[in-house]
Amino acid sequence: MSVVHILIIFVAKLFATNIIAMKSNPFKFGTLVSDPYFTDREKEIKQVESILNSANHLIIIGPRRFGKTSLVFKAMESIHRPILFVDMQLINSSVDLASQLLKKVFRNYPSQKLRTQIRNFRIVPSLTINPISNEIEVMFNPFKASGNAELEDVLNLIDQLGKSHKKPVIILDEFQEVFRIDKNLIRQLRSIMQTHQNCNYVFLGSQESMIREIFEKKKSPFYHFGIVLALEKIPAKLFSEYLSVRLTGIAKNPDLLAKQILEISGSHPYFTQQLAFFVWEVLSFDPKNSIPVDQALDDLIRTQDHTYERLFNTLNTTDRKLMIGMVQSDAQPMSKEFSPQVELLPVSTIYSSLKRLVKEGYLLKNKSSYSIDDVFFKIWLIRRLKG
Ligand SMILES: Nc1ncnc2c1ncn2[C@@H]1O[C@H](COP(=O)(O)OP(=O)(O)O)[C@@H](O)[C@H]1O
Ligand SMILES: [Mg+2]
Repeated sequence: MSVVHILIIFVAKLFATNIIAMKSNPFKFGTLVSDPYFTDREKEIKQVESILNSANHLIIIGPRRFGKTSLVFKAMESIHRPILFVDMQLINSSVDLASQLLKKVFRNYPSQKLRTQIRNFRIVPSLTINPISNEIEVMFNPFKASGNAELEDVLNLIDQLGKSHKKPVIILDEFQEVFRIDKNLIRQLRSIMQTHQNCNYVFLGSQESMIREIFEKKKSPFYHFGIVLALEKIPAKLFSEYLSVRLTGIAKNPDLLAKQILEISGSHPYFTQQLAFFVWEVLSFDPKNSIPVDQALDDLIRTQDHTYERLFNTLNTTDRKLMIGMVQSDAQPMSKEFSPQVELLPVSTIYSSLKRLVKEGYLLKNKSSYSIDDVFFKIWLIRRLKG
């Protein structure tokens, strides 16, 4: 290698580290992530691609903020097919779901021909252009609305489009919300979707028990409707490399910091990125800080103080006792060792409290063991109890 080559590599490295060190925080948490914030999931991406390239439907289960939405969108990058994405958390009725799906149809397919097809719907929606987004807004007449006819016509149209165009992928995120929207919706959806051959359905769900109930219980309408993929955390070794590379240039000992971050976050995708973000902030303000992870944790918890306080205050007395018990004891809430934490509460009360806390997202249930979902909420509570 010539001196010029070495010099070029040196300058390139310097430039790269400078970009990482100086420009902007290289960590992202909150909404879905793609490159350059996305890491690993190679095996899962292949699985998703393979299922979507087949005639099967896909179900991804994983706790909140594990990266389900990010994974599907990442896999879709190489698939090049129309995506009709709906977050079920934002849907309030079957008709609303039909409108949102139809809106996404307009986004993906040329609208001229569509209008003719829509004129044949049993209930014809009115279409307007949103002057701000320039997108077509869909509105079914609420006085004529039945829910079923609209949804059936829209979903059948989507399947039809799959015959003459590229097969669409319909992604229904946070699918467990189906129960909140309408108690008949799940049966309705199944009876419509089961006839479709020209599209793939993807269901994402955060409430593991609910989603398993939908897709794995024999008596459920969606029993064995698709292939279930359970998303795990990102392996610590891979996440560590991701962190180290991004901390290089700003930290003297990136490997050690990566290890410390992962020890606290437990390799949880969102919490790892969140803590790493704060570590980077600490170092960018104070490059000589010798305990950036401790400092970052303090900063993070301080910024979350209001949210955690509000979350804790919304809990009833039993739920609070259980949460406090969970941070003070390593024992499982139903065990004898745990019982002093909840005094003499009846087992049925503890059980319904646990169920509620899992449903609200405070606790995670893995097989029969429970843990606090948000590691920083746990640390906040520990510190709070110490006074
Ligand atoms: N593959 C990934 N690589 C790095 N960070 C990720 C990855 N997947 C998720 N994350 C982190 O988790 C956060 C939540 O991801 P998201 O896809 O919204 O999760 P979910 O859909 O399961 O709630 C992201 O903002 C990001 O910080
Ligand atoms: Mg999501």
